[in-house]
Amino acid sequence: MCGIVGYTGNKSAKDVLIEGLKKLEYRGYDSAGVALEDNGKLEICKAAGSVGDLEKTLNGKFNTAGLGLGHTRWATHGRPTDENAHPHYSASREIVVVHNGIIENHQALRDRLSIEGGYEFRSETDTEVLAHLIEEYYRGDLFEALRRALLDVEGSYALVAASSREPEKLVCARKDSPLIIGYGDGENLIASDIPALLTHTRKTCILEDGELAVLTADRVVVYNRQGDILEKDTLEIDWDLEAAEKGGYDHFMLKEIMEQPVAVRETLRQRISAGEGKVSLSELEFSVDELKRVEKIFIVACGTAYHAGLVGKAVIEKLVGIPVEVEVASEFRYREPLLEQNHLVIVISQSGETADTLAGLRLARSRGLNVMAITNVVGSTVSREADHVLYTWAGPEIAVASTKAYLTQLIALYLFAIYLGESRGVLPVEEAMGLVKGLQSLPGKLNSVLNEENVARLKTYCDHLAKWESAFFVGRNLDSPVAMEGSLKLKEISYIHAEACAAGELKHGPLALIVDGIPVIALVTQEAVLDKALSNIQEINARGGEVFAIAQEGFDDVQNQVDSVFYLPPVHNLLTPVLSVVPTQLIAYYAALARGSAVDKPRNLAKSVTVE
Ligand code: M6R
Repeated sequence: MCGIVGYTGNKSAKDVLIEGLKKLEYRGYDSAGVALEDNGKLEICKAAGSVGDLEKTLNGKFNTAGLGLGHTRWATHGRPTDENAHPHYSASREIVVVHNGIIENHQALRDRLSIEGGYEFRSETDTEVLAHLIEEYYRGDLFEALRRALLDVEGSYALVAASSREPEKLVCARKDSPLIIGYGDGENLIASDIPALLTHTRKTCILEDGELAVLTADRVVVYNRQGDILEKDTLEIDWDLEAAEKGGYDHFMLKEIMEQPVAVRETLRQRISAGEGKVSLSELEFSVDELKRVEKIFIVACGTAYHAGLVGKAVIEKLVGIPVEVEVASEFRYREPLLEQNHLVIVISQSGETADTLAGLRLARSRGLNVMAITNVVGSTVSREADHVLYTWAGPEIAVASTKAYLTQLIALYLFAIYLGESRGVLPVEEAMGLVKGLQSLPGKLNSVLNEENVARLKTYCDHLAKWESAFFVGRNLDSPVAMEGSLKLKEISYIHAEACAAGELKHGPLALIVDGIPVIALVTQEAVLDKALSNIQEINARGGEVFAIAQEGFDDVQNQVDSVFYLPPVHNLLTPVLSVVPTQLIAYYAALARGSAVDKPRNLAKSVTVE
């Protein structure tokens, strides 16, 4: 995710862009840049760092520019460096481009442009190919050049371009990444999100996939891919600024929960081939020999990332047949683990900056081991120090409670398990195909879990749950780590004491705490242990506990045994955690809301724990 703003009009474009980019920093903040029209030239100013840093660099410069485009970056292709920051120039420096999304065929285009066109690339980004491609097709009409260039492009984009030869004009296009036009009086704007527009206008128009637009100060024209002019409806925005920054949601956490179908789709993008049942993770740069030599895996992480690791352990052991240990990073680093040369250490960290996880990584490397990182932040310390990196593409996660990052960590682990199994020749094709198809179906299924009716039901349940000071999460097999994650989320933001328990363990102690009416959330998605899970539920019922089950559709017996059941769409047995965790996130969210907690910034906690 990145943030884009474009402006043309009678104000200082620089000021409008900087103000707009600051409003979009939630979309990415590792580097920022602007291109401003200055005496017939397009001048770029960009660097790694925040929009605030960029503002300082621009101080006193380009004050009279009336047209410009800006970008705040969340690195995908290419590290967060000055060169990789947007905007990007074409070879002649006459065209500038900012882009949000992923150009999937960028390598092929890069090869073509450099071999046939002699273009030299200045950055590692996929975006730079767009600048050169548009230039290649430029014959005096920027809109036509963009339209033609996009015929060659595969992937997702929200992009804005300008040319010094048509200095009154911004051209834009959208596919799978948002772009919103803001209509002003003698000025027009374009941005990735509404907050960047609100100071200037509330009259907007959402560009749809496949649409392009040309903005001048006094006119906006929207086109389809064929170049036909479209009539577009305007949308009057009545949100206040704060609501707009959260996409209209009350909290970042809810917004991020709702973004999960897209985050999962992005993390799967270009890594699976459903027809063949294949996973390709060439970005990891493991040789097949290296993968074959792995005798044991340690997964090292903290908090939610640790819970993702627990699911990863079950999946890797099942699909690959090698032992996996999951370690809380703060313990791993001090317990002198028995590490050997053919062991692989996987660290998982959303931020890539967690001190304990980083220390675990360094310990493993100091013993000469290969370390692979699963992280959400390109250029983070973990990504720089690991030998191999598998990125999750969740986009920036702002709420302290991790939701979409967790889901994408699971996806990364499934992908890696399948990849490892296939590379070692131990995963039968049929099985791989079933899993890959299952992975591909997840965004759609997540959307149905997150439908309005379901959300309303969970909210109603939470009005009851929120009155309690204690709650339980139980589950067996793959439901057990999800119970742990559900309980962490609930305690973290609602401050209800929540205990997770492998359901079979209840009778060894925790059952003593089950009293009349106490809320118990039971995860029931594992067919192999369904009977056992049902008998655990009976144990709870017998002590008066009130059970809310989250169960796989088709497990009809569940509803007869519990007070309430939330059914999940059927999915491959190993993939259930991706769906079952979602209601637990919403339960935590609505319970916290009912108790008036600071949902996005819970007391005593920080998003990134960079101290021991
Ligand atoms: O950035 P990391 O993934 O390394 O963070 C690890 C934990 O601090 C984090 O998952 C924490 O547990 C979350 N706040 C839980 O929602």
